[in-house]
Amino acid sequence: TTRVVVLISGSGSNLQALIDGQSSAGLPIEIAAVISNRPNVKGLERAAQAGIEAITLDHKGFESREAFDAALAEHIDSYRPDLIVLAGFMRILTPAFTQRYCGRMLNIHPSLLPKYQGLNTHQRALDAGDSEHGVTVHFVTAELDGGPAAIQAVVPILAGDDASILASRVQAQEHVIYPMAVQWFAEGKLTMADNKALLDGEPLPASGYQ
Ligand code: GAR
Repeated sequence: TTRVVVLISGSGSNLQALIDGQSSAGLPIEIAAVISNRPNVKGLERAAQAGIEAITLDHKGFESREAFDAALAEHIDSYRPDLIVLAGFMRILTPAFTQRYCGRMLNIHPSLLPKYQGLNTHQRALDAGDSEHGVTVHFVTAELDGGPAAIQAVVPILAGDDASILASRVQAQEHVIYPMAVQWFAEGKLTMADNKALLDGEPLPASGYQ
């Protein structure tokens, strides 16, 4: 089984989707630990509930981004993971950190990347008058929200949507595609080479599998 460390900052609904996937879909992973940069978040409760080791590493205790990332890497490495899963981890990562886990760190971002990197993606899609929105799972590289896409799910934007309705429609898809991408990685089907995501050795399109 693939050893996974999950990094969170909040609710942890994507963490929950992975936990649930282990029992319901036979997702072949062991979640060795969950690390949150914010104390007392719901994701930590979810981890504890599932019997997973859960720790808080508060970024506020560190003088610099580099110092926090170095401490974070030390914690992560102590669990000897094969894969690092960012699940609502709301921190910008240093190049040294992204380099260290190159090809074995995934992120989920609530937009159809390369559209809407950064924050407030749902409101931005609404403000732009888009008819479609969605979510992307991608490998993490030094470029923020810029690594190669593994998989995307598209959702419609409907009349009367506000950011929170749209966010829930997107999140329902997040909980489908993130366990799928993690499963592909665990089975050795999803890899990264030359800054491209590959599925069964074949380069995926820029959007990832859709
Ligand atoms: C998810 O919607 C995820 O796509 C988003 O944060 C939420 C976390 O929810 N991630 C980002 O915005 C990354 N920049 P969760 O804690 O319930 O999984």
